[in-house]
Amino acid sequence: MVKKQNITFQPTQRLKYKPIPNASNHRTSPPTATTTTAKRPRLAPILLGGAFLYVTATYVSMIVFKSKQDTTLDQSQQQQPSDQSSPSDALTTKKADGTIVMQQVTPKNFDTRTIWGQVADRYDDEIGWDEKVMGIGLLRRWLVGQATGDVLEVSTGTGRNFDYYKPTQVESLTLTDDHPAMLKSAETKFTKHHQSRFHDAFKATFTPANVEALDENGFDTVVDTFGLCSCGDPAAALVSMAEACKSDESRILLLEHGRSHYDWLNRLLDTNVDQHVKKWGCWWNRNIMDLFEEDRVKEKLEIVSVSRWHFGTTCYVVAKPKKTPDEAK
Ligand SMILES: C[S@@+](CC[C@H](N)C(=O)[O-])C[C@H]1O[C@@H](n2cnc3c(N)ncnc32)[C@H](O)[C@@H]1O
Repeated sequence: MVKKQNITFQPTQRLKYKPIPNASNHRTSPPTATTTTAKRPRLAPILLGGAFLYVTATYVSMIVFKSKQDTTLDQSQQQQPSDQSSPSDALTTKKADGTIVMQQVTPKNFDTRTIWGQVADRYDDEIGWDEKVMGIGLLRRWLVGQATGDVLEVSTGTGRNFDYYKPTQVESLTLTDDHPAMLKSAETKFTKHHQSRFHDAFKATFTPANVEALDENGFDTVVDTFGLCSCGDPAAALVSMAEACKSDESRILLLEHGRSHYDWLNRLLDTNVDQHVKKWGCWWNRNIMDLFEEDRVKEKLEIVSVSRWHFGTTCYVVAKPKKTPDEAK
């Protein structure tokens, strides 16, 4: 038989810590989740910093890669003898000793029309990846999402903004571009993929037009994305956009690209501008913000807000027309 024993436990050692005098500080429960999180490294700044570094590095490598690619293309074009005249022909002058000298490309001696004709079919494929990397879709969404009422989009290209128009806000959509191949591509895209988002009676109008000499007016919103870099006279384009507005309540929504805040990047853009124009019909080193300082532009419109992205090369601008009381009637 097992004998029952009374066993008592005695502490073998005295406690080595002193009780904390302030009883309220004496934690009897395990640390709460909040206390644990506070000790972890902060994730948000690390992620944001990482994303910023990623975008910066990708953007710079893209610009360098593009300018190298354009230069290679230009050299191979120069080496190929051709019977056909090209837009570059106007750029060569023959010296007395027979040497051929290339002139600098300007809107006066270089017609980008043929470029847009060739580019239309592959424009979306070639531009799509760059835009993803740079977050251009987001900027387009913020900008174009503000379009309301009767909307005019100039230099529409292949219609890369269609996704971002809000059918509940937009009453009519008039789309213009100077180059029929680009506009045709936009029209096909709209009919196939976007018409169904709008109400049954909604009709988008596609009209070929040079933005520098628009014959349009009465719009609540005018949209132009990446158009000022391509046209011959960007200041005239801005004046036309202001004139196309209904009243000083109207808004001109612009997403453009051009010179940077930084000299090192501008040097890269300047060095390779000729090749870039010949490939893409785009003067990527234009000073976009300086256009708003030209007298003829200042007379017609004023800036409401500006933000600049990608080292200042991307300009997000909301402007409004200056209407005299008579014009506003
Ligand atoms: C870089 S693309 C931009 C297209 C489009 N807005 C976008 O965001 O993708 C420039 C467009 O401007 C058009 N363009 C160039 N010069 C023009 C002009 N003077 N008037 C109207 N459109 C013009 C070209 O045909 C081309 O479609």
